[in-house]
Amino acid sequence: MRTAIYAGSFDPLTQGHEDLIRRSLGFVDRVVVAVTTNVSKQPLFSVEERVALISRVIADEPRAEVRPFGGLLVDFARDIGATLLIRGLRAVSDFEYEYQMALMNRHLHADLETVFMVPSLDTTYISSSLVREVARYGGSLDGLVSPAVAEALRQKVAATR
Ligand code: PNS
Repeated sequence: MRTAIYAGSFDPLTQGHEDLIRRSLGFVDRVVVAVTTNVSKQPLFSVEERVALISRVIADEPRAEVRPFGGLLVDFARDIGATLLIRGLRAVSDFEYEYQMALMNRHLHADLETVFMVPSLDTTYISSSLVREVARYGGSLDGLVSPAVAEALRQKVAATR
């Protein structure tokens, strides 16, 4: 059984993330969406809120599960028996950071293979940070995030006003 780990902040999950989760199930048996807080980012949603939201959005995928994690990603990958680490590449600007992270993860765990995936063309411009900004100013979230995430964003923005 081939298990992939798709790790990230997912603050919040976008249509691009969702697209990659579903695409990855085309070549792995199980994908574990691993949610953590990136030390260089200040999150809008707690890890628990993000896990609950993602679980709702991908509830129709029995081969996908969502788990929170702390510490090093490679240690979590070992714990769950993942052999592939999925990361999305949207543009050339993503590459340098992703390449460095892939090499560091290989240094820490030689048997965990990083796989870069390209999201669907209509989602390549979407990032969680831009989605948060659009939500903050009351813009339309149609086509950027799923309806459940859009509702959670509206509530979060209203609560933080
Ligand atoms: O969605 P993001 O913020 O780009 O995801 C980055 C993430 C969370 C995958 C990365 O920061 C991470 O793996 N954090 C866990 C700690 C870790 O293993 N750091 C070393 C990475 S080389």
